[in-house]
Amino acid sequence: MLNAFGDVEVAGIQAAEGLLSDDVCRSIDYHHQAASTNTLALDDLRSGKVDREAWPKLYFCDAQTSGRGRHGRTWISTSGALTFSLLLNRPDAEVITLLPLAVGVGIARCVEFDFAPLQTKLKWPNDVHMDGGKVAGVLLETNQTGIQGVVIGVGINVADAPELSSPGVASQPAQSLSRVVGRDIQRYTVLPAVVQGILQTIADLQASRADVLDQFRQRCLLSGQKIQYQDGTMQREGLCQGVDEEGRLLVKVGDQIQRINSGEARLVRSTSP
Ligand code: BTN
Repeated sequence: MLNAFGDVEVAGIQAAEGLLSDDVCRSIDYHHQAASTNTLALDDLRSGKVDREAWPKLYFCDAQTSGRGRHGRTWISTSGALTFSLLLNRPDAEVITLLPLAVGVGIARCVEFDFAPLQTKLKWPNDVHMDGGKVAGVLLETNQTGIQGVVIGVGINVADAPELSSPGVASQPAQSLSRVVGRDIQRYTVLPAVVQGILQTIADLQASRADVLDQFRQRCLLSGQKIQYQDGTMQREGLCQGVDEEGRLLVKVGDQIQRINSGEARLVRSTSP
C-alpha cells in the first residue's frame, strides 16, 4: 500500500509503485516534507500498532527538515538528496552485529553496479565514500517495545554535498553522486535499486556472513591506515587492521590489538608536505 502526503513528486510516486509491484517493499509512506524519516518509522514502531505483514516498510520524503545522523549529529539534506528509512524485522541474533556493515555493502554494491566502473569505499561502520568524500550515511535505530523491528535510515547526497559537521568535531569532506559521476543524477532513479540492494544484502547476510564481511573488507577505507578513535573520554591513535568476524574495528595500538564495537574512527591525515 502506498500513502502519499502533500505535494509529492511524480518521479517519487513512480519509484514507490515499482518497489511495491516488484514486491521489494510491502508498504510505503511518501511525504513531501518530514522532519526525519527515521522518526516517522520509529514512531510507527513505538505506537505498538504496527502490522508486520506490511514490512519491509519504506518511508521517504522530498524534503527532510531535521535529519539525524550518528552520534547525535544533524544530517543536512539539500534539495535533490535522497532520504529514506526502512522498517523491517530485526535479523537473527547471530548476524545482528554485522547489520551496520551489511547496509553499507548493500549501498556500495548498488552504486558500483549502476555507475560502473566507479568504485566506492566503506568507512567503518557504514559511511559510503567516493572520490575522497562521504556520499552516503546510515543511521540504524531500534526501540525497546519488545517488537523485533529495526529502522535503517539512509541519506545519500545525490545532487549536492553539504559539509557535515558537529560542534567540536572537524567537518568531514562530503561528496555527491552527481559530482562523482559527472552528470545530473535524479534521486528517484536511484531509490529502487538502493532499497533492493540493502534488502538483498541483509538476506545474503543471513545466508553467509563470511561473504558480506568479505565484501566489506574489499572496500574498507581505514584498513592499513593510521586512524584516531574515541575510547571512552580518551582519543587514541593506532594502525587499522580491518574488521573482525563480528564487524568490530581492529586497531593496533602499540603491540596490542584493540577491538572497537561502536563509535567513530577517522583517518589521521598527514600534515607534512
Ligand atoms: C550519518 O552518517 O551520521 C548517518 C546519516 C543518516 C541520515 C539519514 S537521512 C534518512 C534518515 N532520517 C534521518 O533522520 N536520518 C537518516
